[in-house]
Amino acid sequence: MSYDEYDLTAALYDSVGAYREREEDVRYYLAQAAAAGSPVLELGCGTGRVLLPIARAGLAITGLDASSAMLEVCREKLAREPAEVRARVALELADMRDFELGRSFALAMIPFRPFQHLLSVEDQLACLAAVSRHLRPGGSLVLDLFNPSLAMLVDDSKTVEWGDEPEFTTPAGERVTRRFRVARRDLLTQIQDLEIIYHVTAADGATRRLVEAFRMRHLFRYEVEHLLVRAGFEAVEVFCDFRGTPFGAVYPGELVVHARRPL
Ligand SMILES: C[S@@+](CC[C@H](N)C(=O)[O-])C[C@H]1O[C@@H](n2cnc3c(N)ncnc32)[C@H](O)[C@@H]1O
Repeated sequence: MSYDEYDLTAALYDSVGAYREREEDVRYYLAQAAAAGSPVLELGCGTGRVLLPIARAGLAITGLDASSAMLEVCREKLAREPAEVRARVALELADMRDFELGRSFALAMIPFRPFQHLLSVEDQLACLAAVSRHLRPGGSLVLDLFNPSLAMLVDDSKTVEWGDEPEFTTPAGERVTRRFRVARRDLLTQIQDLEIIYHVTAADGATRRLVEAFRMRHLFRYEVEHLLVRAGFEAVEVFCDFRGTPFGAVYPGELVVHARRPL
């Protein structure tokens, strides 16, 4: 399978202000990795936003992603790291629903919602089965998801291009503004067809409009808990942020989910 939603925009990913500012999740996953110890598996590692700080902190980590464009950016960044950091990282082009790495891990993590790219329960269970096969007995899985806001889900204004994020600049001097659109939504299947629209102005004034179109399924709190138990995990815990606040303290907050492969 090829996953090419990111082909057009992988090169912009690390410049996006909203992603650069997401430092709290990086610290959180780094702390989880430090507590679990090596080796760590990251599914949907993208450009290495979370993976590289973990490797720099001395942990061995395997990053798996289905987008060759995103992995290419990660490889370029890794090539600029010291040899000892490079030696701790393995990158795999693979689908998180079906992979076989021939190794087992102390911790598996799926940071920043890649799990929501899995659109059916079969796909979700296939991924969780693959994770379980790759975890040591007693090993942990940590992932985060949107906690779906009921108001956002039925907000018709989101079906026309919207957004007011500040402009950001790429290393090549391009000025970029991101906007968003819900192209289609299906409240029954919980799947939205989403667009992130990048308005790019090059240094010479030429403009481009790039559309990253992708589908995402939202999951509710109890659904995630049931899914994980159905997949054989135990000790499922849900938090609403990256500070360990129990789910329910704010609405909508995030869904930050921990589970364990039984011993
Ligand atoms: C929002 S990015 C998150 C990247 C990274 N984890 C981070 O926190 O910056 C989502 C990533 O999930 C990957 N992805 C989506 N579906 C996937 C699948 N079925 N298997 C593997 N990777 C997938 C995409 O290619 C993309 O790199």
